[in-house]
Amino acid sequence: MKKHIKLLTISSVLALTTWGAVSFAHSEHFTKNTRSAEQSYDFRTSTMSIYKWYLSPMGAMVKGKTEFNAKAFAQYAAGLEAIATINLLEGFPKESGEDHVDDSDAKEKIWSHWEDFETKYKNLQQEAKKLVATTKTGKEADIKAQFKKTAGACAACHKEYKTK
Ligand code: HEC
Repeated sequence: MKKHIKLLTISSVLALTTWGAVSFAHSEHFTKNTRSAEQSYDFRTSTMSIYKWYLSPMGAMVKGKTEFNAKAFAQYAAGLEAIATINLLEGFPKESGEDHVDDSDAKEKIWSHWEDFETKYKNLQQEAKKLVATTKTGKEADIKAQFKKTAGACAACHKEYKTK
């Protein structure tokens, strides 16, 4: 009897450990975000610095600060569209906003308005895609109009969710 109990205990401990290892591995790799808030902040601000890298020279052309060059403009638009396909939202895990990361300008209300935040990101993706399409077919005036919509998608999100 004693032996039997001991065996049972060992096997249930083994079973539990195996189960524990499996669920641990699962959460580690598939559900748990193992990056720190600071790393997430670095990811999202680096990604948006690249947005700016492409947006700024297009903006200068649209404003007439530099000469409009359709070929260069198309390349910048393609760059913006490409970088906008990388999931920016991965860089916004909960508890990574301005109350948690020293340098962050991300308002805490992002996480209580998550669906709207997501929509604003999707809008940017769509407008950037349309901008590329316009550079392939459109006239200068159409390209400039679509550029304003694209930049407007950045501004719409910053207005609601970015401090300063
Ligand atoms: C879905 C919302 C959203 C969209 C769309 C968005 N941004 Fe941002 N952006 C933010 C938030 C929030 C921050 C503040 C992040 C932080 O400081 O933690 C930010 C920060 C930035 C920064 C500052 C980065 C730094 O180093 O501090 C730049 C530059 C920027 N965005 C450019 C852009 C450009 C250009 C676009 C459009 C092509 C854009 N963003 C679209 C939400 C957005």
